This record gives sequence, structure tokens and C-alpha cells, in this order.
Amino acid sequence: MRILVVGGAGYIGSIAVKKLLAAGNQVIVLDALYTGHRKSVDPKAKFYQGDLQNQFLVSQILRNEKIDAVMHFAAYSLVPESVAKPLKYYDNNVSGMIALLTAMKDADVKYLVFSSSAATYGIPQKLPITEDSLLNPINPYGDTKAMMEKIMHWADKADGIKSIALRYFNVAGALSDGSIGEDHSPETHLIPNILRSAVSGDGQFTIFGNDYDTPDGTNVRDYVQVEDLIDAHLLALNHLVKTNQSDVFNLGTAHGYSNLEILQAACSVTGKEIPYTIGPRRAGDPDSLVADSTKARTILNWQPRHESATEIMTSAWKWHQTHPQGYND
Ligand code: UFG
Repeated sequence: MRILVVGGAGYIGSIAVKKLLAAGNQVIVLDALYTGHRKSVDPKAKFYQGDLQNQFLVSQILRNEKIDAVMHFAAYSLVPESVAKPLKYYDNNVSGMIALLTAMKDADVKYLVFSSSAATYGIPQKLPITEDSLLNPINPYGDTKAMMEKIMHWADKADGIKSIALRYFNVAGALSDGSIGEDHSPETHLIPNILRSAVSGDGQFTIFGNDYDTPDGTNVRDYVQVEDLIDAHLLALNHLVKTNQSDVFNLGTAHGYSNLEILQAACSVTGKEIPYTIGPRRAGDPDSLVADSTKARTILNWQPRHESATEIMTSAWKWHQTHPQGYND
């Protein structure tokens, strides 16, 4: 297939590009490089630099490149930044989705696989979280993703654009050879912050809050290894083309780890004692988010190969050791 990957220079998108190429697809990337890295894009993919909101450019690429399907990784994705700058998130994420779907309609491209998020659920009424749980986001980031899913739903009804929304839990790890990994500036995610502190030995790692309603008081999250996550995208695209039906799937391993447990796992993977302090709560963090991923496992036949926190972190440790300054190394 000829696949347009929007946001293909980002952490998750660039690994999707690699895996789509390896599976024999033609891959075209559109990325504005606001947060992505040109170096992370496999040279076998054709690259366009541009904003998803440039609907004219997107339509032209879809037509000229004879695109069969789109994978969308081009949203802003940091919970704390979205709380501080909500308009930036609604503008980029929601307007970007409207422009993409309009361009897809114009160019008659019918298939979309979308990076959605567990942040759409907000504070869940029950754990583990199934796909039919209420969407009640508690931060602007999660709200934009819920809105984007809703827009996709109506674009299917009116225009026949079929889509699969994949609700990611906490994505972690790197390409297994350690060549592509997480490089955000500023970095806000738990695992990269712990591993950076392990590499630098600066003793600057903080856990945000230990008074949550969880067994050890720190937030519980469900981590999924990034290559496993991308495997699910390939399965989802095949499923979409085969069934011609829109759907939504959770992507998580269904194991919950507290922030303290992740820190312990990092000490074991790195073989280092990593000092930490407990700081105040961070805005927008639900107590616990754990997936019920039965639907992806049964319908898509998805089988994550990394289930434990140490397995998930091993590739990330390779990346951080070899790229202490990210893509500037
Ligand atoms: N945390 C720390 N210290 C840090 C960084 C994070 O204690 O230096 C804590 C956070 O407060 C939270 C946990 O680690 O309790 C995980 O935080 P992350 O920032 O790594 O991830 P989030 O859970 O906020 O969000 C991630 C993705 C979202 C996705 C969400 C779904 O970034 O896109 O998982 O579970 F929606």
C-alpha cells in the first residue's frame, strides 16, 4: 500500500515508518518538524515538511502520491503542556484533524489509523478500562483526542471515511537496536526522565505526588513497548481494509505499574541506584490508568512481545546510553 504518515518524524511516527517500510509498503511522510526530528525518518520514505493544517498541501500529497491510507501521529501530546496552553492543543490537534479529513474527502482516500489516547477516559469508573467506558477527559490533551475521535465518527457517517482509533496507554521504549527513541524538549515523560537521570547521575529525578488513591500512593500507569504498539497499527490497517468498518481499540499490556515500581525496574535495568525526591502532584494526572486490551488481542490478534516493565525499558536504556543528548549525538 501507499501510506501517508503524518507526524512521521516524531517518536512513535518514525518507528511506524520503519515498520511500514519493512512490511513492504511505500511510505510518504508529512511532518512540520515542530517537535519531530528529520534525522529519525528512514531515508527510504519520501519526506514533505509542512503543517497538517495546510489542507491544500495535504490534498496535493494525497493525490500526487496516490495514497491508499493515512496514519496520523501529528498531534501535540503532553498532558502538562496542554493544561498550561489549551488553545495551542485545540488549534493544532482539532483543526489538524478537520483539515486532514477534508483533504481525504477531496482526494477520495478512505482509510485512517489514528493515535488516540487513554487520556480520553479521564478518571475511569472501573479498572481495567474497556473501550465502551465513558469518555470524560480531565485535561485539554485528552479532550482534543476525544473530539478528534468524534469528528472521525461523523466523517465516516457522512463521507464514508473509515477509521480506527487506537487509544494508547503509556508508550515507552525505543527501536530494539536503540537507534530511534524518545527525544522531547522539554522531556516530561516518566521513563525518559528516570533514564536520563541514570545516565547523567545528576540526582534530579522527581516523582510527582505520593498521596494518590493507589497502593503506594504514586500514580499507576499501563506501559506498552513502542514496537509492539506499531505492530498493532499494521494489524489495525489490515483489519480496516478487510472489514471496511470503523472501530476503536485500547493499546496497553493490561499490567499497571506505579511510578515507584517503574523507578525500581529502572534501577534493575540500569544496574544503578537512581536517587529521587517526592514533589507535589502534577496537574491533570488521574490516579490509575490500566487497559483492558482484550479487544485488540482477540479481534486484531495483537500479541505484545514485551509485557514486564523491565522488558519494556531495555530498548529505552540502549537509546539513552547511546544518545544522551537525543538526536544531537
Ligand atoms: N512523572 C513523574 N516524574 C516525571 C515525569 C512523570 O513522577 O519526571 C509521573 C507523572 O506525574 C505520571 C506518570 O509519571 O504520574 C506518567 O507520566 P508521563 O508524563 O510519562 O505520562 P502520562 O501518563 O501523563 O501521559 C502518557 C502520554 C499521554 C497518554 C497517557 C495515557 O504522554 O499521551 O500516557 O495513559 F495519553
